[in-house]
Amino acid sequence: MGGQGPFQLIINAAGLLHGPELMPEKKLGDLQLAQLQAVFAVNTFGPALLLRHFAPLLDRHCGRMAMLSAKVGSIGDNRMGGWYSYRASKAALNMLIKTAAIELRRSHPGAVLLALHPGTVNSALSAPFRGAELGRPAGMAATELLQVIDGLGPADSGGFFSYSGEALPW
Ligand SMILES: NC(=O)c1ccc[n+]([C@@H]2O[C@H](COP(=O)([O-])OP(=O)(O)OC[C@H]3O[C@@H](n4cnc5c(N)ncnc54)[C@H](OP(=O)(O)O)[C@@H]3O)[C@@H](O)[C@H]2O)c1
Repeated sequence: MGGQGPFQLIINAAGLLHGPELMPEKKLGDLQLAQLQAVFAVNTFGPALLLRHFAPLLDRHCGRMAMLSAKVGSIGDNRMGGWYSYRASKAALNMLIKTAAIELRRSHPGAVLLALHPGTVNSALSAPFRGAELGRPAGMAATELLQVIDGLGPADSGGFFSYSGEALPW
């Protein structure tokens, strides 16, 4: 794979919120090391390694790499509490993307790294949280996210944006 760049567009849409033995924490007393590790492995550590491998392979003039983050990972927007590991893993993901963007700017001035919030989407991830009711179809979310990616440029690299194009608070 290493020889296959330069890439114009890479999107990482993997993520973990819940599983057979894992539900988002409601209170501090629910915190478990195994859950923190499992959620960070998918939402933070995996993307960190993707950044390490693929960011240098982006087209230096126009390459874009977007990672699906989540608005609940915004520290500034956190009003509800709960969901400790998911929130923290996405906040850490956002920091990795911002930090990588600063480094990448030197060698790849035209490349763009983005943390994107897809909004509520009807998927397996949102299913236990009324996702089918509250979410919109994945195809619609993907279309909106692609429009956001198309509309952003090198000056936006490292930023955290919603599917509407709005910049989100860290
Ligand atoms: N749905 C929402 O309302 C919503 C809201 C905000 C943010 N997001 C974010 O958007 C992204 C996509 O979510 P989604 O709704 O599409 O969730 P989803 O339907 O549950 O899909 C998650 C994807 O992540 C992959 N994945 C999970 N663990 C993995 C692992 N260990 N290694 C490799 N791949 C793994 C899954 O692969 P398999 O199919 O092989 O299991 C699946 O393709 C996630 O980052 C999520 O945090 C979603």
